[in-house]
Amino acid sequence: MELFEAIKTRRSIRAFSNEPISQEILSELVNAGVWAPSAGNMQAWRFIIITDSNQIEKIKNLSPGIFGKPKAVIAVCSDFDEATKKSGLQGERFAIIDASMAAENILLAAHDKGLGACVIGSFHELALQRLLNLPPNIKPILLIILGFPAETPKPPKRKFEEIIWWEVYK
Ligand SMILES: Cc1cc2nc3c(=O)[nH]c(=O)nc-3n(C[C@H](O)[C@H](O)[C@H](O)COP(=O)(O)O)c2cc1C
Repeated sequence: MELFEAIKTRRSIRAFSNEPISQEILSELVNAGVWAPSAGNMQAWRFIIITDSNQIEKIKNLSPGIFGKPKAVIAVCSDFDEATKKSGLQGERFAIIDASMAAENILLAAHDKGLGACVIGSFHELALQRLLNLPPNIKPILLIILGFPAETPKPPKRKFEEIIWWEVYK
């Protein structure tokens, strides 16, 4: 898919078919994630891929932002200890930015493969940390829910003229 077309036609998908996603495809998506820019190339991101339906149900129970029945979830996490070691006071901020950039790569790669995906920010951080067996230094930043799409949502409007300034904000 042509890049600008992929950027513009990617939609948040919240309804999925029952078709499973292969491990190969899920690994490829994470591989797209790790080619995102990374502050100082610190790569403090960590990716947990969840495909077990019982575990996905548990994730849903602690994530008010998840709708529908995804076939896989990728938890995009950051090792805040490593980020602080490598980037000092900026570590946590950079770790969150890195994780977000990786997430967008994953969303676009998923779209390119005909998958539907939605990034989820609404979840109970501590409960998710416990469920995924994450040590205290590894924080979940975003969840990405995935599956083959069972809906084609209309694109939500984007602003342009009113959010852009040249040279300085006026
Ligand atoms: C940081 C972040 C958190 C989000 N959290 C949720 C969420 O918890 N649940 C949800 O359904 N969508 C969530 N979204 C998706 C947005 O609602 C969606 O991107 C927006 O409505 C624009 O639609 P589009 O992605 O189809 O262009 C989130 C998006 C971002 C960037």
